[in-house]
Amino acid sequence: MNFQLTEEQLAVQAAARDFTQLELKPGVIDRDREMRYPKEEVRKMGELGFMGMMVDPKYNGGGMDSMSYVLAIEEISKIDASCSVAMSVNNSLVCWGLEEYGTEEQKQKYLTKLATGEYIGAFCLSEPEAGSDATSQRTKAIDMGDHYLLNGTKNWITNGGTSRIHLVIAQTHEEKGHRGINAFIVDTEWEGVNIGAKEDKLGIRASDTHTIMYTDVKVPKENRIGEDGFGFKFAMKVLSGGRIGIGAQALGIAAGAYELSVAYAKEREAFGKPIAKHQAIAFKLADMATDIEAARLLVYRAAQFKDAGKDYLTAASMAKLAASEAAMKHTVEAVQIHGGYGYVKEYHVERLMRDAKITQIYEGTSEIQRIVISRQIVKTRLYV
Ligand code: CAA
Repeated sequence: MNFQLTEEQLAVQAAARDFTQLELKPGVIDRDREMRYPKEEVRKMGELGFMGMMVDPKYNGGGMDSMSYVLAIEEISKIDASCSVAMSVNNSLVCWGLEEYGTEEQKQKYLTKLATGEYIGAFCLSEPEAGSDATSQRTKAIDMGDHYLLNGTKNWITNGGTSRIHLVIAQTHEEKGHRGINAFIVDTEWEGVNIGAKEDKLGIRASDTHTIMYTDVKVPKENRIGEDGFGFKFAMKVLSGGRIGIGAQALGIAAGAYELSVAYAKEREAFGKPIAKHQAIAFKLADMATDIEAARLLVYRAAQFKDAGKDYLTAASMAKLAASEAAMKHTVEAVQIHGGYGYVKEYHVERLMRDAKITQIYEGTSEIQRIVISRQIVKTRLYV
């Protein structure tokens, strides 16, 4: 495996780092406190090409590889995971899903606007009673001949209140189980789409998470994605790629907390020397560096598999599992290293600790990643 970054990838990484320092860092504490969606910041991310990074330029995208994408997500997540999740859902789930499985007409009509950030997209799978068990969809899309009639409720939808386009997963043929599920492109300006109140969350507080209600929404036939009954497979395929993005987000959160911890530990003195020279702290820094580097290799490896056209299902779940576990563990350590300062907002690490938790939950909990990985071990005798 070659982890030597190209000139182009290094340039993307540097651009994301500069943008994060200049545009995201100054307001991040206030946005978190006020649960304020970074509308202007996301608009700028669109202008800079961060909202449709991997999309073919013929649909207004950046035409970049997954590796560049994870480098950008990693940098942005070091400071602002609320911004990076908006970016990740738009890129990995919505744009990629449409580009890979949409019709040419759907791409022209929707992808061209999603790729620039003119439209923001949301991926609507989770329901009050269908989180990990994603096949148990209660949202119904009844075939009415020339259109589908959509009814149901979706929960914890990222970009829920700010998105123009929803990719909605719904059951059409209940008797067929998961093979009766479809995926639809829904314009939130259509009648019957209602946005619930914004969730008051532990972390990624600025991100825009809502319950969405669909009541007798008329979805044109041409807005179904793929063949009749392809919706569950569509969701699974899209989520596999999404897990690389969330793995990169978790990596960035961990790396951000680590970088702050190293700087603090070198500067802060106690008992006559910098705390980085006390073994209690030095060992923590060593463990952080080791686990984060291991997670980084898994995230980059998954991105490389995707870029090489290899099967990345297991690699993506491994990357997300390792990175999110490292993020949770080491953001807690980062707060500990900072002592009392770590417990106040000004020093950023308490926010990173709160933000880390969601990476073990969304786009498949850590337990779901273990299910995906272990099933592949049994099925393919992976790594034996
Ligand atoms: N690619 C293609 N097809 C797949 C697949 C994949 N990765 N995974 C499963 N499938 C197919 C199977 O082949 C099977 O098809 P057939 O029966 O036709 O052969 C079908 O899907 C059902 O598969 P399983 O029997 O394995 O299904 P299961 O009920 O055991 O569940 C699961 C599998 C992995 C647990 C899955 O339900 C899952 O991933 N759950 C987690 C859902 C999730 O990640 N939710 C996150 C919400 S989105 C979000 O968080 C976005 C956001 O806002 C940030």
